[in-house]
Amino acid sequence: MPTRILFVCLGNICRSPAAEGVFRVLCPEAETDSAGTASYHAGEPPYGPMQAAAKARGLDISDLRARQFRRDDFAAFDLIIAMDASNLENIEALRPAGNEIPVRLFTDYAPTSGADYVPDPYYTRDFDGCLDLIGIAAKGLKTSL
Ligand code: 4NP
Repeated sequence: MPTRILFVCLGNICRSPAAEGVFRVLCPEAETDSAGTASYHAGEPPYGPMQAAAKARGLDISDLRARQFRRDDFAAFDLIIAMDASNLENIEALRPAGNEIPVRLFTDYAPTSGADYVPDPYYTRDFDGCLDLIGIAAKGLKTSL
């Protein structure tokens, strides 16, 4: 059972911290973290509107801080979850030779949703829709462990 799970998006201020925040409540026995493939927001808390949408559902993600995804993460985690195909490609580009840990799209765990990626609410502004999809995928992920 993979117990160390890393959620990855682009900026690490919207989708992946929300995914981490949802999953750590749903599955407290797993070790979780999140990261962004880009460094723009390193050190920052989750984006205000995402924090507010999460808070409205009783989810506090204000303690999380953004960091950039790094090659070492392949050794530190058992499973890496990407929010979209571009994240997945950027993650795979850093995979060390010989490392074989799975990198999966989060929507793989939400087959009934019909979504094949988690749209970025930084651009769509649909923070609630993002949290809905994350909730479905998080339950699927927990069931898969
Ligand atoms: P995220 O959203 O990848 O879900 O954290 C983004 C937030 C900020 C930016 C890009 C994506 N940005 O370019 O600043």
